[in-house]
Amino acid sequence: MKHLIDPTDLTRKETDEIIALALDIIANREKYRDCLKYHKLATLFYEPSTRTRLSFTAAMMELGGNVLGFSDAKNSSVSKGETVADTVRVVDKFADIIATRHSLEGAPYVASRFSRVPIINAGDGSHAHPTQTLTDLLTITRELGGIDGITIGFCGDLKFGRTVHSLIKALGGYKDIKVILIAPDELRLPDYIKHDVCDRQGINYREVKTIEEVIGELDVLYMTRVQKERFLDEEEFARVKDSFVLDPAKLEGAKKKMAILHPLPRVNEITQEVDQDPRAAYFRQVENGKFVRMALIYSLIKWKDDPTHAMPEHEEYFTDVTLHCHNSKCISTHEDVKPLFHHTDEGLVRCVYCDAIVSK
Ligand code: CP
Repeated sequence: MKHLIDPTDLTRKETDEIIALALDIIANREKYRDCLKYHKLATLFYEPSTRTRLSFTAAMMELGGNVLGFSDAKNSSVSKGETVADTVRVVDKFADIIATRHSLEGAPYVASRFSRVPIINAGDGSHAHPTQTLTDLLTITRELGGIDGITIGFCGDLKFGRTVHSLIKALGGYKDIKVILIAPDELRLPDYIKHDVCDRQGINYREVKTIEEVIGELDVLYMTRVQKERFLDEEEFARVKDSFVLDPAKLEGAKKKMAILHPLPRVNEITQEVDQDPRAAYFRQVENGKFVRMALIYSLIKWKDDPTHAMPEHEEYFTDVTLHCHNSKCISTHEDVKPLFHHTDEGLVRCVYCDAIVSK
């Protein structure tokens, strides 16, 4: 059975199949109208969402299926202390597929270890957001005609931005990608993404301080919000919250065919004047999110009993009672889950749930 917890759970071939299916759905909406009749999607959202939850709901409805679930865990038995593992072992009796968002990193991975139906990670803390990645890949494909060879600038909160982390991981599967990281020191991309993802996958990247110095090079400008909810320190948030604001003046010198993406919601990092620019693709990106989630739900249900679409075996994962993850946002520091680790190429130890480096 295939779950989607991290973008790397999909092979490049599977990702291409899902993008191609989304394009076919866009071109032939009627053909897919009833293809998941009598199937049910459960949306278990422990953290707020507009786009992701509603696009999953709309996607399942457009496939002829039904949707159940919760959008506020306080109104579920989670408020009585029910764990992620137990919740999923209940909900998999009612649904054919589950999409879940959680503020704790690794929670969807825990769900996947206990579920009898495919689990889709709809965002876990600052860690990963693989369905946003599929949305972004479909949007780049539709806006620019393809992904190989693009130069993409990521701007804003690259430290906590899970959409950025996931998209960079997925771009490792494409040819000749150049990544330009535009962020203040406090919000730079975590080292593990630079080393484990960019360096290992041969992604050419560099770090700069302003949009203006690179705007003319970019095929895609990927803007992000500074995420107040991820900061432990309010003063640090106040210092960086207005770091990068995209306005028409900053777009002078940009390519005519550049695409401006943003996972949304925005706060103030793109001024409303930019919305009129034909390169502003972020509301088209939202609709692509529905189409690609239709393709994903349909594919995961179709692949469920197909051994050629199984999750990778991770024989390198190990337990060690002397090791503990110290990431306060990791599911393993909140719920009674079996601690799991793996070694990095540099001989360090990483938590499987949240990717944090672990020390004795
Ligand atoms: N892009 C995105 O994840 O938006 P929501 O938080 O509204 O789901």
